[in-house]
Amino acid sequence: MHEIIIQLEALKQEFESQLNEATNEPALEAIRNIYLSRKGKIAALFKLMGSLAPEERGAVGKALNDLKQSAADRWEQARQQLQQKKTVVGIDVTLPARPQRLGSLHILTLVERRVREIFTKMGFTVERGPEVEDVWHNFDALNTPEWHPSRDPTDTFYLKDGRLLRTETSPIQIRVMQSRRPPLRIIAPGRVFRNDKPDATHSPMFTQVEGLYVDQGVTFADLKGTVLQFYRQVFGREVQTRFRPHFFPFTEPSAEVDISCIFCRGKECHICKGSGWIEMGGSGMVDPNVFKAVDIDPEIYTGWAFGLGIERMAMLMYGIEDIRLFYENDFRFLRQFGGRR
Ligand code: DAH
Repeated sequence: MHEIIIQLEALKQEFESQLNEATNEPALEAIRNIYLSRKGKIAALFKLMGSLAPEERGAVGKALNDLKQSAADRWEQARQQLQQKKTVVGIDVTLPARPQRLGSLHILTLVERRVREIFTKMGFTVERGPEVEDVWHNFDALNTPEWHPSRDPTDTFYLKDGRLLRTETSPIQIRVMQSRRPPLRIIAPGRVFRNDKPDATHSPMFTQVEGLYVDQGVTFADLKGTVLQFYRQVFGREVQTRFRPHFFPFTEPSAEVDISCIFCRGKECHICKGSGWIEMGGSGMVDPNVFKAVDIDPEIYTGWAFGLGIERMAMLMYGIEDIRLFYENDFRFLRQFGGRR
């Protein structure tokens, strides 16, 4: 074997063992100088080429070039390994982990869950409907007359294509009755939208829960019993309900639902404005025209429905006096209610 090749092999091994011993950056840098620089040991071997016979030059030149390349690669690899080791060493794995701040459920989610829990135990299923509705589901099928003020664009948010943001959860009644036949026992929570100016008790977006019970022989007494049971489970056994005659297009007869003031127990306080009662929502017996719109025979079936405010319930449960707090996403407010995921 040619002398240069023997030297080359020795250099290779020397370079490798030096690299293996280098544990820091200055050591690595020194190795680069000694072996890889222009005046280094590998360059020096190239210089010996001048003494070779022409027929030897090809093979030896190739071996030297290979060495030059592989040594440079190996050096770069060693540098990266050192870099990696440095970062790993920078972490003290014995330190305790930094505590993770977990989010919590929104208070409206918590209240909605409570509502669902109570009604599902009573045999109701939970339904959903679209927030963007069509006029037919939101108004026509619910027997809302053409002249009714709630249809007005000053009250309702219309989209350019003629659809609207649902103004109540009642259109979900229609969707459910279109797709299923009685007996039906559903609740449907969701957001609704009205062009109201925000203040402590109004918001252009809020949350309702709709209820619907349709079967043969369903009566107003069932409605009263169910609503009373529901509020007693939310607010306690002493709570009373009161059904005040009212008008809704989709129910006949209709009633507004009040509960006895849970703060002053029917005496006088600023929450119930001295009346002893707090308004919670609307209800009534499903109007025969609504049944006709979804092809259910009002001669065979009767039903009741209600629409209750979720924010109102949350405000009473937690003593919150401004509805805007629910939507402002102020951590100081949100954090107070915690809750499981
Ligand atoms: N949709 C009514 C509203 O938002 C509330 C309501 C009243 C719903 C009576 C009903 C009902 O289902 O029977 O004002």
